[in-house]
Amino acid sequence: MKTYRIATIPGDGIGKEVVPAGRQVLEALARSTQNFAFDFENFDWGADYYRQHGVMMPDDGLDAIRDKDAILFGSAGDPDVPDHITLWGLRLKICQGLDQYANVRPTRILPGIDGPLKRCEREDLNWVIVRENSEGEYSGVGGRVHQGHPIEAATDVSILTRAGVERIMRFAFKLAQSRPRKLLTVITKSNAQRHAMVMWDEVALEISKEFPDVKWDKELVDAATARMVNRPATLDTIVATNLHADILSDLAAALAGSLGIAPTGNIDPERRYPSMFEPIHGSAFDIMGKGLANPIGTFWSVAMLLEHLGEFEAAKRVMAAVEAVTADPSLHTGDLGGKATTAQVTAAVCAFVERVEAAAA
Ligand code: IPM
Ligand code: MG
Repeated sequence: MKTYRIATIPGDGIGKEVVPAGRQVLEALARSTQNFAFDFENFDWGADYYRQHGVMMPDDGLDAIRDKDAILFGSAGDPDVPDHITLWGLRLKICQGLDQYANVRPTRILPGIDGPLKRCEREDLNWVIVRENSEGEYSGVGGRVHQGHPIEAATDVSILTRAGVERIMRFAFKLAQSRPRKLLTVITKSNAQRHAMVMWDEVALEISKEFPDVKWDKELVDAATARMVNRPATLDTIVATNLHADILSDLAAALAGSLGIAPTGNIDPERRYPSMFEPIHGSAFDIMGKGLANPIGTFWSVAMLLEHLGEFEAAKRVMAAVEAVTADPSLHTGDLGGKATTAQVTAAVCAFVERVEAAAA
């Protein structure tokens, strides 16, 4: 029997509620199968750790998680610590340190969820956004001089490298090829950004030649927002730079009904390092500690984690459980207009997972 070594990093805010919920689902799976087990190790990194130690995670923290099979992450963010410290000190440190260069963000309208689009059937919206996750607008290059003086200057330089663009384009074309519609939209802004984004477009064209069976088109990022709202069915797989995809994926999550549902995977496609899975929603301080957080984004992330480990049956089982639960309005949390608690949704998903296994056995 295979034992997967999983690092859990709840981080801040409701991350501390949804990551234990995700672990419960993994434990329910393990209880009901002979095929695999999990060996969890939890890391208390985040803003509380920062208050005690002055850093979000220890300097040698990456070494503690480098050999894991996967990482389940909650969120980083705290009202009393500047956002750029929580982000760069933890999540980006892990993503960049473990070269998780492909960020994958699937979006679907799950059963029972009421999306805001009037002219959209549930099947019309089924996207995967591939976010470049290692450079671009998040490369961290820039600086400030003459702080506080009238001549103060500050830069955030977006850097794209040919190698970085080639690898994310190849990943996106491959992913598009693996989906039934074999359709990829490359998001750009090469009309206004006339250097790096022009290279981005050129590399897309070059890589497309390796995938003759994938239909692809280009869309300017601003026009893409309108297309997502007005013609959602014309999109399937989408690839964009770090910041463009950050923005488009929030829009995607909102169009699918709630940010509380959206999952993501920070993937090292070459599998040199563990990949990291997390809900998109962030730390949500307004509801933290109340047991009201929607754990569905974490459960969907758990399904992605299982897929990444090659446990496709188990991943399907978790998604079936998620869909059964979203289909039942009495199990909707506050973000979906319901009254259910994190614990109730978690118990329902765990019960479903174990029941399906019992029925199959
Ligand atoms: C996301 C988030 C983060 C990002 C925030 C928390 C810095 O919005 O994962 O989309 O911008 O990358
Ligand atoms: Mg975002």
